Amino acid sequence: MFAEKIIDWYKAHKRELPWRESSDPYRIWISEIILQQTRVAQGYDYFLRFVERFPDVESLAAAHEDEVMKYWQGLGYYSRARNLHAAARSMNGVFPRTYPEVRALKGVGEYTAAAVCSFAYGMPYAAVDGNVYRVLSRFFGIDTPIDSTQGKKLFAALAQEVMDKRRPGVYNQAVMDFGALQCTPRSPGCGECPLSDGCAALAKGTVAQLPVKRHKTKTTDRYFHYMFVRAGAYTYIKKRTGDDIWKNLFEFPLIETPAPLREEELLAHPRFREWIAPGERPAVRPVRKNVKHVLSHRVIYADFYEVSLPEGSASFAGYRKILLEDLDSFAVSRLIQAFVGDSYVGGR
Ligand code: ADE
Repeated sequence: MFAEKIIDWYKAHKRELPWRESSDPYRIWISEIILQQTRVAQGYDYFLRFVERFPDVESLAAAHEDEVMKYWQGLGYYSRARNLHAAARSMNGVFPRTYPEVRALKGVGEYTAAAVCSFAYGMPYAAVDGNVYRVLSRFFGIDTPIDSTQGKKLFAALAQEVMDKRRPGVYNQAVMDFGALQCTPRSPGCGECPLSDGCAALAKGTVAQLPVKRHKTKTTDRYFHYMFVRAGAYTYIKKRTGDDIWKNLFEFPLIETPAPLREEELLAHPRFREWIAPGERPAVRPVRKNVKHVLSHRVIYADFYEVSLPEGSASFAGYRKILLEDLDSFAVSRLIQAFVGDSYVGGR
């Protein structure tokens, strides 16, 4: 009854989405990785561009990682792109055909494996994502936290039990769209919901409280100070490494501090002094202050300084010296992109 009603609703309200027209596991996999942490409206064009440039496993495996990152630029959670690329390289040209093999791909969890295997191969695996937790917790009136071990087990078993095993692909798509369009987080359309008769949360008046989460995500503040160097027609960048945000994206020379920093403190900072070659006297001026950039677990407050040096400067050793006009060809964070896209850079 639950599955049937959801599927009926879906037939009347489904969204036409490019990855739904295909049973190609590669395209479905790409779309699901994009949609893991990205809304359909934002992911749509990225998906089309990505599969146009990398239409199959071979082309993705053969690409340079920097180019893959460039196609991902602006989507966030960049480990997704690195994992996609590594997974494509692990396939030997053929997308895997069984659930365990799909699940073993880098970056593929239970949800994504279930989505790919049900959409591409019609296998009866229930995909459980945030939408599904919300729909199930409300309809069945379950207040077990979805981020507890017990909750995860309970919802996985329930999802598997209530799914339509004859139509797993359609069923999984249907619950996702139902959660995204009808049973939404803040203002669900209970008044015109075809499942309202059987909805436990609606009967108890607990729709707004469900699903329950035990841990609220905490955010930390970080303070970034970027040096936008102008050395004639050149500037300096470097690829981020280490286990942190924006890994493998490029950025300007950066000093991070645990608290805000005044201009005088920046100029006296050991890291800044190390950058400048003996005898050179760069002109430094702040050009953007306190730009707030919000990520899922962090808030970054960024200052941008323009550092002017002669074209033949020996400062910023160890950085990559590039023509300013080539900056666009490097994958950078949205924070950097916004600064670069600003009318100010390049004197445009
Ligand atoms: N969110 C995650 N996967 C999705 C899909 N296949 N269709 C729509 N929204 C989704």
